[in-house]
Amino acid sequence: MEPADHIPVWFMRQAGRYQPEYREIRKKYSLLDICREPDICTEVTLLPVRQLGVDAAILFSDITLPLEPMGVDFDIVEGIGPVIHNPIVHADDVNKFTLFNAAESLPYVGQTIRQLVKELNVPLIGFTGAPFTLASYMIEGGPSKSFTKTKSFMYYQPEAWHKLMEKLAKAMADYLIYQVSCGATAIQVFDSWVGNLGIEDYREYVYPHMQTMFGALQGLNVPLIHFGVVSGHLLEMMKDCGSTVVGLDWRVRIDESWKLLNYEVAVQGNLDPAAILAPWPILEKKCAHILEQVDRPGFIFNLGHGIMPQADGDVLKRITDFVHNWNLK
Ligand code: CP3
Repeated sequence: MEPADHIPVWFMRQAGRYQPEYREIRKKYSLLDICREPDICTEVTLLPVRQLGVDAAILFSDITLPLEPMGVDFDIVEGIGPVIHNPIVHADDVNKFTLFNAAESLPYVGQTIRQLVKELNVPLIGFTGAPFTLASYMIEGGPSKSFTKTKSFMYYQPEAWHKLMEKLAKAMADYLIYQVSCGATAIQVFDSWVGNLGIEDYREYVYPHMQTMFGALQGLNVPLIHFGVVSGHLLEMMKDCGSTVVGLDWRVRIDESWKLLNYEVAVQGNLDPAAILAPWPILEKKCAHILEQVDRPGFIFNLGHGIMPQADGDVLKRITDFVHNWNLK
């Protein structure tokens, strides 16, 4: 890991509803319309880079976008999230979902990335959902708190489960390779909901597929960020599968987690997104508390999960400046 002259910072969901400009665009276009229209998608992706002065752009998209060419029929419902109209119920249902060629099925993603890299002088992060998080939507039919349908499918239909996970791992690796071939200079894999599994279930039902997925990405020579929420108990496996940056949420400490990972990977995190709503002295203390734990190169300042719609852009700018002005030891 190479030293930088300041700690880099970007925010998960840095483009979104907290921005008046985004809300204005959303009056005319749905979320998926924005993703499919390169000029608008480029503009939305660039908004936070220009406003906040962050050190990376993240492609504006959604983890559900590549599910459409696989045969998943869904809508994104405001305040809920993805709602799937043809969820997986029986083992056979897994056969309905197919691999796809990203260049043919999602050409607007490549087009947006190509437009963005011309405009940007910071890295562009491409991304995808991880197989477990995507499978959970496909089986639950929408967001879930307990993941009972997903876990039952895993336990009762292990063969079909592994078939689904293999398919998703291959499809998402191909999709990421496509994003990098178009110009993305880093990637992040969001396994937002995998922390709901215990260590043994992760090892048996998820880990082999993450090894396959990250294995396929090894030749890309870009940072491979692997992020989960409430996944402190899984961090070592999230590193060992082949990622080069592990994303942490606010429930764990930066210094302890980094040590646990033997400093073999960079780490990213981990401000509580709700802290952005706190008075500045409290928020400043929380940012400093994170930065004080950083004693070597290889740290990326971020939130522990996505920005909330109630956030204030001026506060995000203030955090960015605070991190940039932090004196490295
Ligand atoms: O700027 C960025 O960070 C890129 C934008 C981005 C979106 N979705 C756009 C979006 C990213 C990185 C995602 C990933 C995503 N989508 C994840 C993984 C990250 C995480 O938060 O854990 C997940 C689980 C989803 C599924 C999803 N899509 C949810 C839970 C929601 C929120 C529903 C709601 O209304 O609260 C969405 C919709 C969505 N995706 C929005 C945005 C900006 C908000 C709704 C909108 O503008 O219509």
